[in-house]
Amino acid sequence: MINVKVLSFLLLLGGVNCEYKYETKWFKVPLDHFGYQRNESFNIKYLENEEHWDRGGGPIFFYTGNEGQIETFAQHTGFMWDIAPDYNAKLVFAEHRYYGQSMPFGNKSMDKEHLGYLTSSQALADYADLINYLQGDRLKPKYPVIVFGGSYGGMLSAYFRMKYPHLVTGAIAASAPIHMYPGMVPCDVFSRIVTSSFKVANQKCVDNIRRSWSELRTFLASQNNSDWLKTTWNLCEPIKNSTDIQTLMDYLQSMYETLAMVNYPFQSDFLMPLPAQPVRVVCQYLSEKLNGTHLLEAIGKVLQVYANYTGKAKCVDYKNSDYTNLDASGWDYQACTEMIMPMCTMGKEFDMFEPSPWNFTKYSEDCHKKYNVYPRPDAARIEYGGDRIKAASNIVFSNGLLDPWAGGGILNSISSTVTAVVIIDAAHHLDLMAANPNDPETVRMARAIHRQNIDKWLRDFREERSKRH
Ligand SMILES: *[C@@H]1O[C@H](CO)[C@@H](O)[C@H](O)[C@H]1NC(C)=O
Ligand SMILES: *[C@@H]1O[C@H](CO)[C@@H](O)[C@H](O)[C@H]1NC(C)=O
Ligand SMILES: *[C@@H]1O[C@H](CO)[C@@H](O)[C@H](O)[C@H]1NC(C)=O
Ligand SMILES: *[C@@H]1O[C@H](CO)[C@@H](O)[C@H](O)[C@H]1NC(C)=O
Ligand SMILES: *[C@@H]1O[C@H](CO)[C@@H](O)[C@H](O)[C@H]1NC(C)=O
Ligand SMILES: *[C@@H]1O[C@H](CO)[C@@H](O)[C@H](O)[C@H]1NC(C)=O
Ligand SMILES: *[C@@H]1O[C@H](CO)[C@@H](O)[C@H](O)[C@H]1NC(C)=O
Repeated sequence: MINVKVLSFLLLLGGVNCEYKYETKWFKVPLDHFGYQRNESFNIKYLENEEHWDRGGGPIFFYTGNEGQIETFAQHTGFMWDIAPDYNAKLVFAEHRYYGQSMPFGNKSMDKEHLGYLTSSQALADYADLINYLQGDRLKPKYPVIVFGGSYGGMLSAYFRMKYPHLVTGAIAASAPIHMYPGMVPCDVFSRIVTSSFKVANQKCVDNIRRSWSELRTFLASQNNSDWLKTTWNLCEPIKNSTDIQTLMDYLQSMYETLAMVNYPFQSDFLMPLPAQPVRVVCQYLSEKLNGTHLLEAIGKVLQVYANYTGKAKCVDYKNSDYTNLDASGWDYQACTEMIMPMCTMGKEFDMFEPSPWNFTKYSEDCHKKYNVYPRPDAARIEYGGDRIKAASNIVFSNGLLDPWAGGGILNSISSTVTAVVIIDAAHHLDLMAANPNDPETVRMARAIHRQNIDKWLRDFREERSKRH
């Protein structure tokens, strides 16, 4: 998921060059699942692989797509591909409506007047129809379904099991911040974890970044210096006024946040092409106390890693906020309606950023300006249960403690069937990615626990089914 303040995942897949094969299919869904007056329908995309599938009753592993084109998630959810042969499973990756090519109103879908059908519950209902279809539209399906998802996709997989337990047997919800709603966790939890992930690499790195904000503001107070900075940092556009300065600062903050999220032990292009252990790599440039232009030059090197790892970037496009591989423009709308995740920074000793409070009034006004909607801050908690989900079952919540989103995740088991898996040295849903020689042992263990749960859920499904016959 992408941090909303700033906006909101070529294949190098951890050095292992594998291209997964699938068929691209389309499935017709109603525009509106919850009312009967708009009777239009449209197609959502899904990717399917049946290479290992046992049609006699093999499971369906179903990825509940999140905010981006589904191919990206299929390519970066290697865990499902890795285990499919052992389970004789069919793989399905379903695209979330309003992302990728699953557009209800074609190229007009993102117009304000057409965005109303972009909600998580409509997307879940799409997946429910698709799963019912994949199970052969039977009263007593023979194919058990396990849902998987990472980030917002992980929230969707958990929510799917809660809302449609009759359709799926269990859910692996990786890095799903289902507590990141208003009032449920402190708004600075995200920025604190970003800071501690940088601290793991190098304390001086944190000190330099913390100092850089005021150094940058002081430096840019002189007009001529902004020319120097444009040249030194290779910026696409000049810094002309205070709005531009803020935009640049937001870009930098989002850079540090993204680096912490995708701090994987291997080279990856999940959100953007980056080296293995990108936080450690950029902190090399900030490993001793720097000031003035030395500090700014060092941050220029950090920008080179972040924005130009391929060496193909002409310039640093700090004004373009949609700079990841995901094409997640719909997320900004979702963040303005039901997915309200308060974010703030405290500065000082708490985190390495400039203080910036969470201001719901301003947030709400901005949403209204952009989309003509007001957010409903409690809607998702009321719809999905907040922290009162004891009635749920067969869900695993996994979180890596290097991942800033873990601050909104479930870190303690809720019951014997809603369990937490904590991976101390992993970033954003590393456990869902393909096995890699550089993986820490803890991630291997997490994947083994996922498999034990899947085994149990499949056994339960089959026992139940045999009792019914
Ligand atoms: C859809 O609704 C329109 C009127 O709103 C009606 O004319 C049309 O027959 C309906 N189509 C279907 C397939 O129900
Ligand atoms: C939008 O889609 C329509 C119909 O598919 C097409 O004729 C039109 O050129 C497209 N417009 C843009 C801007 O892509
Ligand atoms: C600032 O830039 C302007 C024009 O680019 C130049 O005339 C002026 O001398 C510069 N001032 C300093 C202090 O370098
Ligand atoms: C600041 O400059 C940018 C161009 O660099 C311009 O688009 C924007 O309107 C300016 N904002 C203010 C407040 O002057
Ligand atoms: C910046 O650091 C250098 C040594 O690294 C030091 O000589 C200089 O006084 C420092 N300047 C400021 C403004 O702190
Ligand atoms: C990216 O790297 C290439 C090769 O080193 C360089 O020519 C180019 O200027 C760099 N782009 C940016 C934005 O710094
Ligand atoms: C929050 O934003 C509103 C609207 O922009 C503003 O009037 C208010 O002063 C802000 N509150 C705080 C505490 O900054």
